[in-house]
Amino acid sequence: MSNKIQTLSGYIHEYSKSIQDPENFWSRIADSFHWQRRWDSVVEWNFEEPNINWFVNAKLNISENILERHLFILGDKPAIIWEPNDPGEAGRIITYRELYEMVCQFSNAMKAHGIGKGDRVIIYMPMVPEAAVAMLACARIGAVHSVVFAGFSAQSLSDRINDCQATMVLTSDGNFRGNKTIPIKEIVDEALKSAPSAEKVIVLQRTGQRVDMQDGRDIWWHDAITGMAKENKAEIMDSEDMLFILYTSGSTGKPKGVVHTCGGYMVYTCYSFQNAFQYSIGDVYWCTADIGWITGHSYIVYGPLLAGATTLMFEGVPTYPDPGRFWNICDKHRVNQFYTAPTAIRALQVFGTEPIEPYRLDSLKVIGSVGEPINEEAWHWYHDHVGKGKCPVVDTWWQTETGGIMISPIAGVTPTKPAYATLPLPGIQPVIVDNNGKELTGNTVEGNLCIKFPWPSMLRTTYGDHERCRQTYFSSFKGYYFTGDGVKRDEDGYYRILGRVDDVINVSGHRMGTAEVENAINEHPKVIESAVVGYPHEIKGQGIYAYVICDMEGRSEENLINEIRETVTKIIGPIAKPDKIQIVPGLPKTRSGKIMRRILRKIASGDMANMGDTSTLLNPAVVEQIKEKALTPS
Ligand code: PRX
Repeated sequence: MSNKIQTLSGYIHEYSKSIQDPENFWSRIADSFHWQRRWDSVVEWNFEEPNINWFVNAKLNISENILERHLFILGDKPAIIWEPNDPGEAGRIITYRELYEMVCQFSNAMKAHGIGKGDRVIIYMPMVPEAAVAMLACARIGAVHSVVFAGFSAQSLSDRINDCQATMVLTSDGNFRGNKTIPIKEIVDEALKSAPSAEKVIVLQRTGQRVDMQDGRDIWWHDAITGMAKENKAEIMDSEDMLFILYTSGSTGKPKGVVHTCGGYMVYTCYSFQNAFQYSIGDVYWCTADIGWITGHSYIVYGPLLAGATTLMFEGVPTYPDPGRFWNICDKHRVNQFYTAPTAIRALQVFGTEPIEPYRLDSLKVIGSVGEPINEEAWHWYHDHVGKGKCPVVDTWWQTETGGIMISPIAGVTPTKPAYATLPLPGIQPVIVDNNGKELTGNTVEGNLCIKFPWPSMLRTTYGDHERCRQTYFSSFKGYYFTGDGVKRDEDGYYRILGRVDDVINVSGHRMGTAEVENAINEHPKVIESAVVGYPHEIKGQGIYAYVICDMEGRSEENLINEIRETVTKIIGPIAKPDKIQIVPGLPKTRSGKIMRRILRKIASGDMANMGDTSTLLNPAVVEQIKEKALTPS
């Protein structure tokens, strides 16, 4: 625990050391891990190609650092506490020793089915401990996991399997979510019809529903582990070997596979976890994310388990069986650190404080927020009613690409400020640049958020397309990693994230490309063209507003709108379903044919007053026509 910063002056001291001499700083942090071979140099990099290497030539295995490294002291301590969807079902507590055995056994099972170092394995599973076991087993044998959120459609799943040419899929018979049971094995079966690389499917029994098992391809999880040894020697990995691929949306139509590697990701997720949350051994930490997102990777599985923490994993949803469920779980397991998303806070805020009152929340020491900007009202509600005014709110800004928390208070150590992510963690060098790439120094400035020096858990590439990585993140502002976010630095030097400045929208903390949703809408045979924008939504942060030009022949508007919604659900998944669909006679375009999204965003947000200069439009009259039938206010 020597890497934990404990005082404000300690933070200032560590931060300045991390900037003045990053090599020594990270070398000291990395020394607390178990390396099979030490590094030749700490970091070698350039942001032009980009080419980023941390702990050059070092060898390690991240699962060994989670399991073997902790067995002696923490073997009998809980690693994972699992809370099922249905509060009437028994939960599970898995100690570090049990986790070690489960991971080894499943590693052996995967190996027996032909998976080895470098192979890609898709994990499409519910929030059960076996999902974490699956990730760690992949890491142990050197296979590259790619977790796909189990709410994605068959088509999204097959796209991802094809993109990384995965040879194995790990799934379950079904998935309990609130009062629904989702047949995820059926979705896998559908996906595999167009994803031939996946030769084996291992199926965990969770819901007990009937599923089709294809001979020679599908194996039950319990059969796969039968007779497998509970010991396994971890594969020795290079620090820069791939650990996982995680698909995320960008401003183009196709999600990209963000690649993270072993050594740097290990060091940074553990370090940032210990510091942001001020975790102490024995605490119970709970992050409500899904393992299908980066938050689940870094702060349910890797970061906490590397730190020897007890991490709580919840299978269900915040409102089932009632809106007190989160607080019930905090009380039942005496949770000390609680980490959730603003959208969940806002959704629960609607029910008032009544659902909180029956529960003891006095065990809470730190409460966290992630995924989208938290508005001041939600921040105060969270702080006052959940944290009872005594828990620091750590508003953690980061991204799939950054791998770990970048800008955030350090709980109880550095100051908090409502709606502000505040200050960078040690080692992180944020800068604000204007649209010409000029760095804006000093305080009270606003612009594009970039990072000017590498950090250990940053992405290395986008799978199979390095040029896309270069263009997306390293070409907008020369010499910097560009985050895609707007930001302001206030008079005290604190950072406030203002939201995306590109064509990415953030709906309930789920990141979505407007082009991706448009592509899905355009799959409907009656759709001629569409334009999608985000608009402010009270609970979701942003909602999806789609303007669609259709061939209306033989269809009512209502039917068509429903069909378009279904099409999007089928192509991407329910999370991308537009909140509002307006059938329009045309779209405002410039003379060069570019859609004027600025105008569409204004209309979607109900701001009809001043459309700016529309005289340069090819078809200015269409703006009035759209305004007349706009679906506002929300
Ligand atoms: O716009 C920022 C927003 O979420 C984006 C990253 O999304 P994703 O890769 O899905 O990762 C989410 C979980 C780390 C960012 O570009 N975002 C994330 N955290 C915050 C945030 N916006 C404001 N405040 C935050 N704390």
